[in-house]
Amino acid sequence: MSEKNQVILGDCQEVLPALAANSISACITDPPYNYEFVGHKWDANEIKRRTQRVQNGDSKTLVKNIPYGSGLAGGVRNDRWYERVRENIREYEKWCLEWGKQVFRVLKPGGLIAVFNSTRTVAHVQVALEQAGFYARDCIVYRRHSGIPKGLNLSAKLKQKNYSNYRNWLGWHSCLRNEWEAIVVLQKPLEQNYLTTFMKYEVGLFYTENEDGSFQSNVIENIPRTQEDDFNVHCTVKPIALMEKLVKMFVPPSTNHIVLDPFAGSGTTLLAAQNLGRSYIGIEIVPEYVEIIERRLSANRKTLCDASDRYRKLAVANAEPENLPLFD
Ligand SMILES: C[S@@+](CC[C@H](N)C(=O)[O-])C[C@H]1O[C@@H](n2cnc3c(N)ncnc32)[C@H](O)[C@@H]1O
Repeated sequence: MSEKNQVILGDCQEVLPALAANSISACITDPPYNYEFVGHKWDANEIKRRTQRVQNGDSKTLVKNIPYGSGLAGGVRNDRWYERVRENIREYEKWCLEWGKQVFRVLKPGGLIAVFNSTRTVAHVQVALEQAGFYARDCIVYRRHSGIPKGLNLSAKLKQKNYSNYRNWLGWHSCLRNEWEAIVVLQKPLEQNYLTTFMKYEVGLFYTENEDGSFQSNVIENIPRTQEDDFNVHCTVKPIALMEKLVKMFVPPSTNHIVLDPFAGSGTTLLAAQNLGRSYIGIEIVPEYVEIIERRLSANRKTLCDASDRYRKLAVANAEPENLPLFD
């Protein structure tokens, strides 16, 4: 069995082989989207430099460039450019296959994996995970609050270059406004069927009952933003409510179930698991982010303990003497 509730510093490709096979109930993760930094190992010095820039307030983001091929305004589209784009995405797919195989090994039969990715690259993640042995189940749309078009605005460009007919091309752009992220969902093969698998491992099905009684669809929207906490400088933090929704959907409510996030970032998946009484294992390659995770988890643990203490005191104060609640 893999040890529960741990955050491991390191490259997930080196850490995952140490986890026990068939021990994890679900993997919910948000890997780098091939924006930059793609490769088998991130460049630790470069990460350090960028993290420091964010901490010093010189920069708000660790991501400098939009992905190759997203249709930015500048740059010449020649054969070399297109070949570089293809090479880049092939390498990304290969990288996803490598860690995908390890996640496949550690998941229980029927275990689900949910991976965030951009609309442009998610197909490659799905294909890589299928090659790793998973079976594709769905693609969830996470509809975000905003999205600013980042490509070429033809009319503005023509105006800047003193073309007199620039007004004719108002509204023509090189991209659509990006309003959703993909969460591709795949599954490790079942043992015989859903019933046998679920009865044996308690995984393989989705929890579909929403709080308002509706049936959960594959579009997630109206997720409240997370209030920034004091110690989070990570640039791609997911809202806690979103991660809680996914944990609830994929993992039954018990600390016997471990949620794995091999690209933990600032640890939002782990926090969601902690809030909901599931266990977690997180892996993160950047030491500064591991420190953030530890601080977030420990502050959250304290809040949860205080809340449970308040509840306990309230329950005791309001209970009839013969009905005093029993606590562990
Ligand atoms: C998109 S971020 C995850 C953000 C996270 N969802 C959150 O809410 O904070 C991806 C993280 O993966 C980490 N990472 C990249 N390659 C890794 C690897 N090979 N092993 C472990 N972590 C890695 C990066 O340092 C980054 O923090």
